[in-house]
Amino acid sequence: MVVILKIFALLVVIIPNAYSLSRDDFPSDFVFGASTSAYQVEGAANIDGRKPSIWDTFSHGGNGNRYQGNGDIACDQYHKYKEDVELMANMGLEAYRFSISWSRLIPDGKGSINTKGLQYYNNLINELISHGIQPHVTLHHWDLPQKLEDEYGGWVNRSVVKDFTAYADVCFKEFGDRVMYWTTVNEANVYSIFGYDAGSLPPQRCSPSFEANCTRGNSSTEPYLVAHHILLAHASAARLYRKNYKGTQHGFVGFNLLAFGFAPLKNNSEDIIATKRAQEFIMGWFLKPLTYGDYPDIMKKNAGSRLPYFTKKESNLVKGSIDFLGINFYYSFYVKNKSPSIMHKENRDYMEDMNVETIQITPNDTLTYEVPITTWSLKGVLDWVKNKYGNFPIYIHENGQQTLRNSSLDDWHRVKYLYEYIGSMSIALRSGSNVKGYFVWSLLDAFELLGGYELSYGLYYIDMNDPSLKRQPKLSAKWYSNFLKRKPMDP
Ligand code: NOJ
Repeated sequence: MVVILKIFALLVVIIPNAYSLSRDDFPSDFVFGASTSAYQVEGAANIDGRKPSIWDTFSHGGNGNRYQGNGDIACDQYHKYKEDVELMANMGLEAYRFSISWSRLIPDGKGSINTKGLQYYNNLINELISHGIQPHVTLHHWDLPQKLEDEYGGWVNRSVVKDFTAYADVCFKEFGDRVMYWTTVNEANVYSIFGYDAGSLPPQRCSPSFEANCTRGNSSTEPYLVAHHILLAHASAARLYRKNYKGTQHGFVGFNLLAFGFAPLKNNSEDIIATKRAQEFIMGWFLKPLTYGDYPDIMKKNAGSRLPYFTKKESNLVKGSIDFLGINFYYSFYVKNKSPSIMHKENRDYMEDMNVETIQITPNDTLTYEVPITTWSLKGVLDWVKNKYGNFPIYIHENGQQTLRNSSLDDWHRVKYLYEYIGSMSIALRSGSNVKGYFVWSLLDAFELLGGYELSYGLYYIDMNDPSLKRQPKLSAKWYSNFLKRKPMDP
């Protein structure tokens, strides 16, 4: 009975719209793909010269990590890349977004290159290209080499700008003859906030109020400082690319942020202003420097001297340093204004400076973890970026529905989610957004950075108890493949 109801629900959801959404609604140079990141899928963490990143430390229990599992084996893409590329090709994927593990390529973060790491990424890139799949490469998907964290404190120290640029240089030089799309840093906003304020993600530095979970940092300044260094590192790598490689390789260098759909909780001026403030704190924090060379006024006002300032030279370096923006999008919040707390007057941090309360729209279903679909929101984000910071090219680098890891292969909720957001993107495109591509998060059920092996987003299921780590297509993989191959939408 349940199965019949599900099939009926799927038909109701998909069939009426079947003729309104097709691959041909998008320009032919628009790319559709799927995403992963190194630590989440590669495995082979301790072989062939790779050394630990801050994610290895965290997932092995450093500082009270609360998830089960680690990326030691993950999907073992390191050994199974050929199988995975074949699977992508059979599905009709046009592009694959993956990240390079800095500590596999340059195990100590600086200095000598690991030839086996070099070989692996060359193999993967060549395999993709020989199957007609465009590689979209991220350089830093949160996995800083542990050595740099130990030596000088990682991203809180300005030395990271030089080391990141040298690492990017190796990647451009070694892979740039075949890779056209480079993203310097993944979700720079999440890394700065959750790594240095809430302390729930590596390197787990935080304010006194979160001390139980982390190493005490200085949350009044560190999230801002880290973000500043990320912007400088990105811009320095982008400048290097433009100077030394652009002329021969003709590629593009972009940056990636997590975006939320935000809507005022009440239609009053406090909540409307709070919503704008939240968007500036989450996205404008990076987008204003990248387009205008300075931080948003509201951030300067609320953080005062705790927010670093750009020298004239830095401002010129950062301004105009993106060829495209990568957006990761998952869900939406209602925003409620919050008055600044009197208690924390002397010791405000990023959260206090933003001063909003966020209420997730329709809470997660605690049994399945699925998040609600708010179709207005993706278009809203794209419009906001376009109207506020300019209509530069945008790639939706991640979008996907989370479920419990061992839930059914019949993931029709995920099909509906992807269908709705691809639809919302096509509406944004038609109303003038410069969206150039879309990537499902994720190709495989991976080691999830926000939930270990409990959560899954994959188009393919992997049973971690089966040593063969066989990839099993879910309904969503079949649906996406049909969409890409211009077959009827009925899965
Ligand atoms: C954000 C991150 O980029 C990715 O690593 C993570 O797995 C997904 N979103 C899901 O949380």
